[in-house]
Amino acid sequence: MDDISPLAVDIREMRLDDLDHVYCIETSAYSNPWPFQSFIDELTRNHWSRYVVAEAEGQIRGYAGMWLIAGEAHITNIAVDYSFRRRMVGEQLLLRLIEIALAEECFSMFLEVRRYNLPAQRLYSRYRFKPIRVREKYYQDNLEDAIELRVEDTSSADFADACRARRAALTAALGKEDFSDDDSSCRV
Ligand SMILES: CC(C)(COP(=O)(O)OP(=O)(O)OC[C@H]1O[C@@H](n2cnc3c(N)ncnc32)[C@H](O)[C@@H]1OP(=O)(O)O)[C@@H](O)C(=O)NCCC(=O)NCCS
Repeated sequence: MDDISPLAVDIREMRLDDLDHVYCIETSAYSNPWPFQSFIDELTRNHWSRYVVAEAEGQIRGYAGMWLIAGEAHITNIAVDYSFRRRMVGEQLLLRLIEIALAEECFSMFLEVRRYNLPAQRLYSRYRFKPIRVREKYYQDNLEDAIELRVEDTSSADFADACRARRAALTAALGKEDFSDDDSSCRV
């Protein structure tokens, strides 16, 4: 039987030498993966990007990234190795992105998600992402619609409180000390 217990991961900034592992996850998680070169460009040329990886036992189990532009955080990707899903790795990654965005004083966060990607939509709804608009036939591989999800009030005390509460719940579920303090490994 698959292990479905919560898995505590260490989250740190993505490096170029992570990309082979990251790209294995990318190509199995997405039907329209980015070109490998795009990840290199994100890490070396895009000053607005922030990318992190989630590691357990020294192995990369997931990654996530976003662009921080003019006070808005645009989540570009978040993916977890198939064998490690439903173990709160995705949520740890998302919460870390949110915490980075808050630290950088973003007032809004948004992303596009496929209409039928219900696991991802459920994850985002936990953090108050709400549907704003539909982009019809946005994805070229199967012409699936994209739904733009957005949180408008990320700079509010209310949102920060909700994230702190979620962080505490995650920490308890993972049975570890508050891993948000583990910032020595996350300089993003
Ligand atoms: C979306 C994704 C990152 C979630 O990662 P994960 O590690 O499995 O997520 P978590 O274990 O942290 O789950 C958090 C919550 O997400 C939702 N969720 C995750 N997987 C789900 C599934 N298969 N069915 C329904 N809800 C799901 C649930 O609300 C879950 O909480 P619950 O387990 O208490 O119900 C992962 O499914 C993935 O990599 N998908 C492929 C790439 C992708 O679609 N990325 C999103 C692009 S917008």
